This record gives sequence, C-alpha cells and structure tokens, in this order.
Amino acid sequence: MLKQLEALRIQAFEELSRIDDPEELDLWRVRYLGKKSGLTRILRSLATLPLDERRKIGAQANKIKKALESDLTEKERYLQETFLTLSLEQKRLDVTLPGRPIPTGRLHPITQTLEEICDIFKNMGFQVFEGPDVEWDYYNFEALNIPQYHPARDMFATLWLDSWVDRKARLLRTHTSPMQIRIMEHKRPPIRAIVPGRCYRYEATDATHESMFYQVEGLAVDKNITFADLKGTLFDFCHHLFGEETKVRLRCDYFPFVEPGAEVAIQCLACRGSGCRLCAYTGWIEILGAGMVHPDVLKHVDIDPEVYSGFAFGLGVERIPMLRYGIEDIRLFYSNDLRFLKQF
Ligand code: FA5
Repeated sequence: MLKQLEALRIQAFEELSRIDDPEELDLWRVRYLGKKSGLTRILRSLATLPLDERRKIGAQANKIKKALESDLTEKERYLQETFLTLSLEQKRLDVTLPGRPIPTGRLHPITQTLEEICDIFKNMGFQVFEGPDVEWDYYNFEALNIPQYHPARDMFATLWLDSWVDRKARLLRTHTSPMQIRIMEHKRPPIRAIVPGRCYRYEATDATHESMFYQVEGLAVDKNITFADLKGTLFDFCHHLFGEETKVRLRCDYFPFVEPGAEVAIQCLACRGSGCRLCAYTGWIEILGAGMVHPDVLKHVDIDPEVYSGFAFGLGVERIPMLRYGIEDIRLFYSNDLRFLKQF
C-alpha cells in the first residue's frame, strides 16, 4: 500500500505541475483529493488494517494529503495571479479616451422666453398668476365689454366647447385677458399682475399664426395710474428684452376692454427700420396690444372707476424668439423637430 501511495503521490505532483487552467485544477482536486479519490479510499480503509500497518500507512497518507492540499492552494494562487495579469494586459483601459456625452434635456424656447419675460416684470414688482385654458364665455368676452353679438367677437375666432346657453358656454380662451377679471374678482387694488398662458383660436395656421399660442397678460390697477405708467412700463420692458437702443412705438388701437387702446411696436431688429421681409417692409413689428382698463370692466368687478384706474396689455410670446433669432415660421415651435429645438 505504501508503494501504491508513492505512485499516487508522484502521479499527482506530475499532473499538477502541468496544469495551467483553473478548470483543469478543479478536476485534479476531485481526482486526487475528492471523496472518491484513491487517497481518500486508502484513508477510509485504515480501520481494517492491523495497528502497525495502520500507523505507517496512515502517517504517510496524511503527509501526502497535506502536501497535495498545500500545493493545490499554491497553484490556485499562482493561476489567479496569472489570469489577473493576463486579463489586465489584454483588457487594458484607455483612461485618456473621452467619455460618452450624457444627453441633457433643455427648456423649450417658448418656456425660456416666458421665464425671461416673467423675470423682467417680477423685477418691476409684478406678481405671476395662472388661469384655466377652458374658460367661461363670461370671462373671455362678457365681463370684458364684449357681449353676445358684439362685432368685436369676430376679432377672436373662438373654439367653443358648449353651445351658448344662458351665458354659461365654455370655450378655449382666445386670449389671457379673462384673467384680468378673475384676478380683480379676488384681489383689491393695488394690483400688479402678469399672466403667462396658452391661448387658442380657430384659425388656419400660417407662418405667423398658430391655433395654439402663448400670451402674457399684464394688469396694474391702483389710484392715479395713468397712460404714462403704461408707456413707461412697456418701454422699460422692451428695452430690457431687446436692448436699450431699440426704438419703441405706440399707436392707437381698439380693444373693447380698454380705453384708450394702443398697439406697441418695436423697430424691426433685422433691418433696423429700413424695411425687410420680416417687417413687411414697414420697419416696425407689432408685439402687443395694450390700453387703460375700461371703466365698465372695473365696474364688472366692483372696483370704482372714479377712484381707481389701471392699465392692461397682452403680449404674443412666439413673436419674441421669432424676432430675436430670425425664425420665419411660428409652426416650427410646435412641430417637435429636435433639429430645430436643439438650437436653443
Ligand atoms: C389680444 O388678444 C388682447 N387680449 C390683447 C390686449 C390685452 C389688449 C390687454 C389690450 C389690453 P390680439 O388679438 O391682438 O389682442 O393678440 C395679442 C397678440 O397675440 C398679438 O399681437 C400676437 O402677437 C398674438 N397672437 C394673436 N393671435 C395669434 C395667433 N393665431 N398665433 C400666434 N400669435 C397670435
């Protein structure tokens, strides 16, 4: 049996020296140290041997077992290190490679413009309000001095949600002006408010008209508010937004809810007033409607026009980035073309 053990030892060490792969090493471990290996069988059969032989063979078998186990551990460590070195060399990382850019989102150009407009007015002491897109006839027209059958209703091609019954018809608001009424219903003067929001009109779209667009409404009501306050506020706003040197023009206009009414235009940014396609060769571009709040509108919300006066304005938002960046078609803003949107 001693001879058998010696032969086993020589064979095991010889095989172990040739192994260079962890899987082979595991098979070797099962073959020489596993439950069914020759060595384990010899160790199990020790009890059947006479005492003398048992001692000798037992000592030798255990010695071989320990030697095999220690060489196995040694070999495992060696193979692990070799494999690690190899894989580090083969799969070497180039830390100088530039990383993959992480795509970041951005705000829509109209959102950016709205934020900019609101910031300018906030700095002047205006408070920001928001209102519903679905509006009652009363707020969109009636309370703004535009009763049913008033010809001014034709100025606002309306998308109706209900048929007109007892002044309770709902519609998609055609402008942000209904918020003038909602604010004055809940707040007493002094009022300084701006309202950014979506508006809807039943219009065929073209390069300058969309059926959904944004406006920013402005409203200031207090004692002794005059047209000069309106002019000063809007001139200041235009200079902030378009630059100090931009010329601003006020001309008479008509809106039933203001008296007097005005349109505000700025000198064309593209041609600086000499006339081009963008300004239809007039040198001026209209950006908003404005005026002094009509006394009848104040009466609708129980504010005494003999004591208080106010001004209001409504600004078309899309016009602003169109002017600034020379965008010729308003429909680009809402067609979800990332090539366009990524530029802002
Ligand atoms: C009004 O909507 C008034 N509520 C403005 C106002 C408020 C006047 C307060 C006086 C006091 P108007 O219909 O002109 O006015 O629209 C105002 C601006 O909205 C226009 O100058 C234009 O820039 C924009 N706008 C109007 N219709 C469209 C449309 N279909 N597409 C894109 N922008 C539009």
